[in-house]
This record gives sequence, C-alpha cells and structure tokens, in this order.
Amino acid sequence: MVASLKGGVGKTTVSASLSYCLAKLGYKTVAVDMDFGVRSLDIALGHENSASPSCFDVMTGKASLGLAVDSDERNSNLFFISAPMSVDITYDNEVTPKLFEKFLSDLKREYDFVVLDMAAGTGKLLDMARESGMVNHVFIVSTQNAASVRAAEKLGSTFASHEDEEVRLIINSFDPDRVGKDDYVSIMDVIDHSSVTLIGVIPFDKRVERLVSSGKTASEDKRSKAGIAIMNVARRVAGEAVHLLDGIIPKNKRLKYY
Ligand SMILES: Nc1ncnc2c1ncn2[C@@H]1O[C@H](COP(=O)(O)OP(=O)(O)OP(=O)(O)O)[C@@H](O)[C@H]1O
Ligand SMILES: [Mg+2]
Repeated sequence: MVASLKGGVGKTTVSASLSYCLAKLGYKTVAVDMDFGVRSLDIALGHENSASPSCFDVMTGKASLGLAVDSDERNSNLFFISAPMSVDITYDNEVTPKLFEKFLSDLKREYDFVVLDMAAGTGKLLDMARESGMVNHVFIVSTQNAASVRAAEKLGSTFASHEDEEVRLIINSFDPDRVGKDDYVSIMDVIDHSSVTLIGVIPFDKRVERLVSSGKTASEDKRSKAGIAIMNVARRVAGEAVHLLDGIIPKNKRLKYY
C-alpha cells in the first residue's frame, strides 16, 4: 500500500513505477488504483483508454475480477485495475470490510505483489486496509517539506500498534540544494521527525512529469534518477541490499545528500 495524508507527494508516480519495476524483476504484479476521488494511476501507467470494470465494480459484485484486470503491453508480468471513473464520494460507502478483504485475498492468491495506490488523507479504504491485517508493506510517501513530514509522522503513528505490516518511508522529490531553505529539511530530519524507517529516497527529477503525462513510468527512462531510485526500492522490497543512492549519485558526491 502506497499512502500519505498529504496530497501530491508522489504516491501515484511511485505506485506506477514500483509496479513496473517489480514486474521487471520477474514478479507477477498488479497495480490497483484505490483513489476513488480522482483516479490517475491509469494515466501514470499508460492505461488511460481502458474500458474495463473498476476495482469498485469487482468489490461490489458488479463484475468479475478477470474482467477488471488489464494486461500490460510492456511486460507480461504487469497488470492494472482501475478505480471508478465517477467522483461520487458515496461510492466507498458501498464497500464493506468483508468485500474489501475478499478482493485483496483474491488478488494475493494470484499475484506476487499487489500495489495499492491510495487517495491522499484518511478515508474508509485506508482504514479498511489498515484493519484488514492483509497489507504486508505500507509505504508512506513524504517530500522533504515540513508539513509533509508531519503528515508522514501522523500516518506512521496510526500503524504503531500493528505488527502485521512493515511500515516504510519513501522520501520523494528530494533536492539536496533545498535543504535549509523555506520549510525543506534533510533526509536525516525527515527520518527523525517522521519516526518511520526509510526504504528509499527518490530525487526530484524534471523528467518525471513529462514521462507520467505520456503514460510512461519513471523507471522506463534509463536517464531518470527518480526511475532508478524507484527500481532500488523494488529491489529492496524483493530482499536485495541496495545502497540508498545506488546508481543515482556518484559516491564522491553523496555527502551533501546526508
Ligand atoms: N520525483 C519526482 N520528481 C519530480 N516530480 C515528481 C516526482 N514525483 C512526482 N512528481 C510530480 O508531482 C506531481 C504529483 O505526483 P502524484 O500524482 O504521483 O502525487 P500523489 O501523491 O499521487 O497525488 P494525489 O494525492 O493527488 O493522489 C505530479 O505532477 C508528478 O509528475
Ligand atoms: Mg495519486
């Protein structure tokens, strides 16, 4: 589950790229858009034209899981399930914890990884995911901005009494040159103030916006530092020991990152 209480920190960007990377590493992976407010994972993953039923349709019994799953042209291990098109906020009231858990367990049976791109903020879906005990990894995305770090701390604390999930911090859009300016803090400060264990730092990368808008994940562009960083996260999720800035920053220039 990729989540944050603050909007616009990069959940969808990370979800799309992480799903792509896990598939590339050989894992059968399905990316699920859980943002019932404003879906956008379809855009980030290049499935904008999909007319398949949504995860909401599957959960509420309006469509079978098989019909909702889109395969991906780039990788035969990669699959996608959309969020409902409508922005009707009563939608998620129809999804009960039981229906939600059945949906997740059906997916977990079929896929090595199920990546859930959550909406910003608290919400029923986030609560159900937390209470289900079926989420193995929670990735809290934060930028280096103080308000975002506070939001990461707050979300992290809601998992404090849980033992089922591995809760990890992804610092996104990091720029070492902004540290100390305005409300921008260092990697160490984000870790310290959020109290969440770090799993990856994704640099700010101008290429990301262009890539995402053209339906390409950051990790498809070999020159995208954000893409490389997200691949590093995927490799860590898969159990590999990968240096924090591996392939992103030359060793002799890493000091200022800390
Ligand atoms: N590492 C990065 N470098 C530069 N731009 C980025 C990076 N990550 C994300 N962005 C840009 O930031 C914007 C917000 O990203 P995204 O939609 O992934 O955030 P989100 O957390 O999913 O937002 P929401 O809360 O609305 O769902 C997008 O324009 C995206 O292209
Ligand atoms: Mg999003």
